[in-house]
Amino acid sequence: MLDEPVSADQEITALAQALAAQGRHPMLVFNHVGDLGVQVVTNVFASRERVARILGTDVPGLHAQYQLRSRQRTTPRLVEHGPVLDLVQRGDQVDLRQLPMLRHFESDRGPYITNAILIAEHPDTGVGNMSYHRSMVHSPTEIATSLHSRGDLWRLAQLAKERGQVLPVAMVIGAHPLIMLAASARLPFDADEREVAGGLLGQAMEVIATPCHGLQVPAWAELVLEGVIDPMGFAEEGPFGEFTGYSSDRSTNNLFRVDAVLRRRDAILVDVLGGNSAEHLNLARIPRESEMVEKLRERFASVTALHYPTSGTHFHAYVALKQTRAGEARQVMLGLLGWDPYLKTVIAVDPDVDVTQDSQVLWALATHFQPHRDLLVVEGLPGSALDPSASGEGTTSRMGLDATRGPDFKGVLAVLSSEALTRAAAILAGLPRGS
Ligand SMILES: Cc1cc2nc3c(=O)[nH]c(=O)nc-3n(C[C@H](O)[C@H](O)[C@H](O)COP(=O)(O)O)c2cc1C
Repeated sequence: MLDEPVSADQEITALAQALAAQGRHPMLVFNHVGDLGVQVVTNVFASRERVARILGTDVPGLHAQYQLRSRQRTTPRLVEHGPVLDLVQRGDQVDLRQLPMLRHFESDRGPYITNAILIAEHPDTGVGNMSYHRSMVHSPTEIATSLHSRGDLWRLAQLAKERGQVLPVAMVIGAHPLIMLAASARLPFDADEREVAGGLLGQAMEVIATPCHGLQVPAWAELVLEGVIDPMGFAEEGPFGEFTGYSSDRSTNNLFRVDAVLRRRDAILVDVLGGNSAEHLNLARIPRESEMVEKLRERFASVTALHYPTSGTHFHAYVALKQTRAGEARQVMLGLLGWDPYLKTVIAVDPDVDVTQDSQVLWALATHFQPHRDLLVVEGLPGSALDPSASGEGTTSRMGLDATRGPDFKGVLAVLSSEALTRAAAILAGLPRGS
């Protein structure tokens, strides 16, 4: 917790980056940020240890625990009152210029809401969707946002457009971390992330109905904006510092008209650090990794470990497997490249290589991989619209690099005898620390 005043303009990102450079990923709480007048909390998801703890497990158990809990879907419980209804502003009272917001990078178009969870409901079935969308103030009553990942909210907006309607939406800014985690999951169109939130929480998520459109939003949220996305509207936004580490102006430029602002009396701004921060990457990928590990293991019993390295943003994965038949590594890599919407590069290694260590995977690549034999490339697939190297439509190629040793490999590992290792450990134990 920091009492020292900091600016709302980039200083929080700079502080978090400086800590990350030292290998430190604490949750950050700021009491005095510019003239925002609210406490700011950020970097909650920057440490996998912390996310695991919130889920009641440790890092090795993270994926299995996420899958287990997220499957215990629980219908939200509608309540009459909740802290988010402390203050309700409607009509002329709405002035979005009063929202607490941070500017994360110099290259950003302005201050952004990076933790904007948009909730919408299917007009016929009522099935809800939660997803994140970077957002900036367009006018006192309008927000400009981007649906570039073209997930379920995009589909709902298209449906509204076809029917000549607007799409009621609520933007949740600040909720329980497990609700935030559920919102980043990519579920089938007929599944509701609010039920997954209940599973992760271990109890139904309490929701209130928003006053104008009756959307079910977390009763304990810090701040909620409700209104409509006008599918025919246009509001320019971006550039914005994205998870790739690049500033991106690739946007669908959607217009969100705000009818009401709901907030707790003691609302805090819960921010998600932008750019290729550990926070953004963990939040976005823990549900995806968990789903992929399970899918892979169901089909390929040979898979022993899977890791998405931070160095590869969302585009790289390392998979370890104990091959039982020729070509198995290729098949596993093709499965992963096909299932995961973002992946561009998968490297397969043997189980003795620690996939959580970039250096070990790169050593396996350096010593086991023959490009003419072990590389597979698939072209012309949909990829991330934000990959600066992809085409404007987000088309990408994907590759698998088989860095397993294979049956004909002749290398002999240079190893040490257990006596030498034991003796070295004993000598080191006798030396003063630091000498
Ligand atoms: C912190 C964060 C920010 C994100 N920002 C955006 C964004 O600005 N636009 C977008 O289309 N997707 C964004 N995404 C990705 C979607 O929210 C995510 O893919 C979501 O799971 C889509 O879910 P859906 O398919 O259920 O709609 C973001 C994800 C995270 C975790």
